[in-house]
Amino acid sequence: MIIAIDGPAGSGKSTVAKLVAEKLGFHYLDTGAMYRAVAFRALVDGVRLTDEERVGLIAENCEVSFAHDEGEALPTRVFIDGQDVTAAIRAPQVDDAVSAVASLQRVRAAMVKQQRRIGAQDDIVIEGRDIGTVVFPDAELKVFLTASPEERSRRRAAQQAAQGVLVDPAGVRDAIDKRDLADSTRQIAPLTPAPDARVIDTTGLSLDEVVARVVAYIEVWRP
Ligand code: CDP
Repeated sequence: MIIAIDGPAGSGKSTVAKLVAEKLGFHYLDTGAMYRAVAFRALVDGVRLTDEERVGLIAENCEVSFAHDEGEALPTRVFIDGQDVTAAIRAPQVDDAVSAVASLQRVRAAMVKQQRRIGAQDDIVIEGRDIGTVVFPDAELKVFLTASPEERSRRRAAQQAAQGVLVDPAGVRDAIDKRDLADSTRQIAPLTPAPDARVIDTTGLSLDEVVARVVAYIEVWRP
């Protein structure tokens, strides 16, 4: 069974997807980490982010893989061609670069191919922007999480502060707004709910409430 969880930045996708996967004992795939890894490699190699030929070659020739930390239930360590980039892909430079890279057709085709291969494992929660619409349109359950822009930037700022990053709330809001605009207006696989997605507005809901709703959808589907 595939559970697709899509939504914009700060909607709670990652946290909810991980908790649902843990609760159900499902595999877990963070597709955003894959685009981030390609963006990171393009930055390190000094490739112009709009150069589809060169960024496309990176995406087509790399392997993004995941591993478990010791004692962790889910594979949250991220590697590109064996290099551990778990922390590096969360840098603000990658935040700023990733949407441009993710808008390129060749990059998306290469990532979707890897995602479909990984997603062929039987029970899995996959989070992203286009999982229910493009990557796995036949997913048994599709969830689209939203939240107000204020709430989403508040959550992202709190997340960064918890990681010890010095946070400028206006800057966080601006970065999220820019990325959302780019992700929702791009020509290929824009961020949008699948027609058959269950949309949950998480503004004002606790994490437990959101997870409980997702799990309830699954129980209806799989009594
Ligand atoms: O965690 P956050 O929601 O901020 O972002 P992410 O899931 O790590 O995704 C980073 C970026 O990758 C997004 O802003 C999109 O540009 C891109 N992405 C995508 O295009 N398609 C996906 N399935 C997942 C991410």
